[in-house]
Amino acid sequence: MKKIIIFASGSGSNAENIITYFKKNQIAKVVSVFTNNATAKVIERAKNHQIPVEIFSKNELLEHNILQKIQEIDPDLIVLAGFLLKFPENIIEQYPHKIINIHPALLPNYGGKGMYGMHIHRAIVNNKEKETGISIHYVNEHYDEGAIIFQANVTLTDEDTPETVAEKIHELEQKHFPEIIQTILEQQIV
Ligand code: GAR
Repeated sequence: MKKIIIFASGSGSNAENIITYFKKNQIAKVVSVFTNNATAKVIERAKNHQIPVEIFSKNELLEHNILQKIQEIDPDLIVLAGFLLKFPENIIEQYPHKIINIHPALLPNYGGKGMYGMHIHRAIVNNKEKETGISIHYVNEHYDEGAIIFQANVTLTDEDTPETVAEKIHELEQKHFPEIIQTILEQQIV
């Protein structure tokens, strides 16, 4: 059974969806949720599924504490699901091709520092984009620049608002993210 660690900073709807999905199969389990936000809803969601939660500060992430905690778990995949801090290089170096992120836009567009959640959906509507989508990619030392693994898009109309765009993105994320995680785990050689 492979082990997944999820990092999340907010609501955790993706985290919960992944937890639920892997409860139903024998390939992998979510073994821990890590968060930098002591009031994040993801904490309650994880606890409802009896998943241990690790809460840490930005400093703890940058020092060696969190790397050590991850190494104790020895995960097969680290999944960033709405994790809003920059992921530290000392962890990235230790887990090549084992850290992925979901981004609520079609990278390389609408990526980079400050581009997250509703900020993106507002920019998409302001720019009258005809489509948007999701990107699942490996994490490297630059925000949203690691190799893209998967993208899915959705058409927008003149009637779309940031809120309806968020709903469309949410649907794509719920549908695809767990399946892509499963595919990555199945293809892992080590
Ligand atoms: C998701 O839409 C995810 O793609 C986005 O944050 C949301 C988290 O929702 N991530 C980013 O914007 C990262 N740059 P959730 O907490 O309900 O899963």
